This record gives sequence, C-alpha cells and structure tokens, in this order.
Amino acid sequence: MQIKNVSVIGAGVMGSGIATVCLIGGFNVRIIDIAEEFVQKARVKIEKNLLKSVEKEVITDQKRIEILKNLTTSTDFITVADSELIIEAVSENFDVKKSLFSQLSEKASPDAIIASNTSALKISELAGLYTKPEKVIGMHFFNPPVVMKLIELIKTEKTSNEVFDTAKEFTLALGKEPVEVMESPGFVVNRILIPMINEAAILFSDRVSSAEDIDKAMMFGANHPIGPLALADMIGIDVCYSIMQTLQREFGSDKYAPAPVFQRMITDGKLGKKSGIGFYDYTETKQPVVS
Ligand SMILES: NC(=O)c1ccc[n+]([C@@H]2O[C@H](COP(=O)([O-])OP(=O)(O)OC[C@H]3O[C@@H](n4cnc5c(N)ncnc54)[C@H](O)[C@@H]3O)[C@@H](O)[C@H]2O)c1
Repeated sequence: MQIKNVSVIGAGVMGSGIATVCLIGGFNVRIIDIAEEFVQKARVKIEKNLLKSVEKEVITDQKRIEILKNLTTSTDFITVADSELIIEAVSENFDVKKSLFSQLSEKASPDAIIASNTSALKISELAGLYTKPEKVIGMHFFNPPVVMKLIELIKTEKTSNEVFDTAKEFTLALGKEPVEVMESPGFVVNRILIPMINEAAILFSDRVSSAEDIDKAMMFGANHPIGPLALADMIGIDVCYSIMQTLQREFGSDKYAPAPVFQRMITDGKLGKKSGIGFYDYTETKQPVVS
C-alpha cells in the first residue's frame, strides 16, 4: 500500500512534531484536534519547526514554502477518510484513546493503517475497539520528533505483516530508524527510561542532591546528553506520571509506582517545559526550582 495522505490526530507536543516530520518526508498532512485553538497553535509550531529545519539546512526555504501547502488542519474526524495512514497522538489517557478508536471504525477508510503513538498504553486493547485490528500498529515517535531518530514499531499479536512492512517503509521514508518490538508495557525505551526518571525524582525529593546535580551526574557520569529531570520536563510531568502508572498497573508491581512529587507537580500545574515550569523554571532562562 502506498501512503500519500497522513492524518495526525492530537495537535499537542508530539502531534505537531510528527506532522512536521511527515511534511518534510513529502507527505500530505492533516492535523486534527478537538478545538480550533489547538490546531492553530500546532500550525504555528509546525511553521517554526520548518523554519528551524531551513536554518539547519535540512530543507531549502523554497521547499518550506511548498511543504506548507501540504498541511491542512481540522477539528472534524470525518476528514480522516482520505488518509492511508492515521497516527493518533492524543493525550495519554486510556478512556480518551478508547473513545477515539471506537469512532475511527466508522470514519477511517477500511484500508487505512491506524498507528498509535502511545507511550505505554496497551495497543492490542485499542486495536480490539477497531473493526480491523490487523490494521493497527504502534508507531512510537520520540520527543522532539523532528530531532529524534528512533521510531519503535510495536506489533500486537494481530498486526499483519503487510501493515508492519508498510509502517517500516514509511519510517525509513521519514529518515528515521525503526526498531521492531512485540507489544509489552513501556515497549523498550520507556521500560528502561521512565524508571530511571522516577528514581531521579526520588533522589530529588529525598534531597540527596539538587535537580541540577542529579542531571549533571547522569550527563557526566553516564554520558547522557540530557539529565533525567530535564528530560522529564521535556517529556511532560503528566506524561511521565501516566507512563509510570501504566507500568505499575501492567506489571502489578509497586517497583514502578510514581514518586509522590509527580502528583504534587501535576496539581500545581508544573507540567514541565510545556507549562513553563517543572523541575526547572523556563519562564526566562532555564533555572532549577528549589522545593
Ligand atoms: N511528550 C512526549 O515526550 C511523548 C513522547 C512519545 C510519545 N508520547 C505520546 O504521544 C501522545 C501525545 O502526547 P503529547 O505529549 O503530545 O500530549 P499533549 O498533551 O501535548 O497533546 C495531546 C493533544 O491531544 C488532544 N486531544 C485530546 N483528546 C482528543 C481527541 N479526542 N481528539 C483529538 N485530539 C485530542 C489535546 O487537545 C492535545 O492537543 C501520548 O499518547 C503520549 O504518551 C509523548
């Protein structure tokens, strides 16, 4: 199957990044969200992303202008009907995703591939709500999608080989690196990464070290390009929390229980970079928050 038209549902941090990557890859992209305000914010973000790509000489300015013509926005799911690939990047909430998958059965073309960008939710359960579960696959992009090279391709027991092969070809067409993963909580990267972030938050809460020093320790001691707490801010505190809860629930082990600091931060609206404050304060220059 040839993919030309891609619908990205969810115009947040990941949706706008995924849309940018697909545009640069030469695809027609429609970005969909529940309110006009969100899709317009995403359009601005995509335009900025494309300007950055020109600065970095990934694309020419002429190409940027052409690519932008391939972008449409919508708040109506019916518009997914013409897409060969639908990538959902809505909030990491099972009920929200379940409701979306139930609706997609009526709205998507029967031949379309449905890809979920979930960080840790059960794709097979979502696939069970779609009339053709063999068409459903996980395509897990990383943040920020324009920069990060990896896409985890997650197969459920029902994902067809044809769908997997098409998703792999698409990944390569985006200039990304695919890895094949059989469905398992947290897949590969988050199964390793999120418990590390949780441990860093526990060290921070126990005042063993400051946020800056914890990050510095992992950057200089483990050769990580970014520390775990700065990374948590980049991923989103709410997203990290939700992945921790999923790992705890799916494995039935308190080993994965989120550190209490995450719940407190969410209540205080400290969601990381996207809200301007998390473990660090981004309102002016990046500063550690002392709490
Ligand atoms: N943030 C990360 O670092 C990261 C990395 C990889 C994967 N993910 C996954 O990507 C998905 C999106 O995460 P995000 O960080 O972009 O979240 P976000 O909160 O920035 O954006 C989510 C968007 O989904 C929209 N939305 C909610 N319900 C919707 C619906 N029914 N229909 C259409 N749009 C709807 C919201 O309005 C919002 O704009 C999640 O599943 C998350 O786990 C996130």
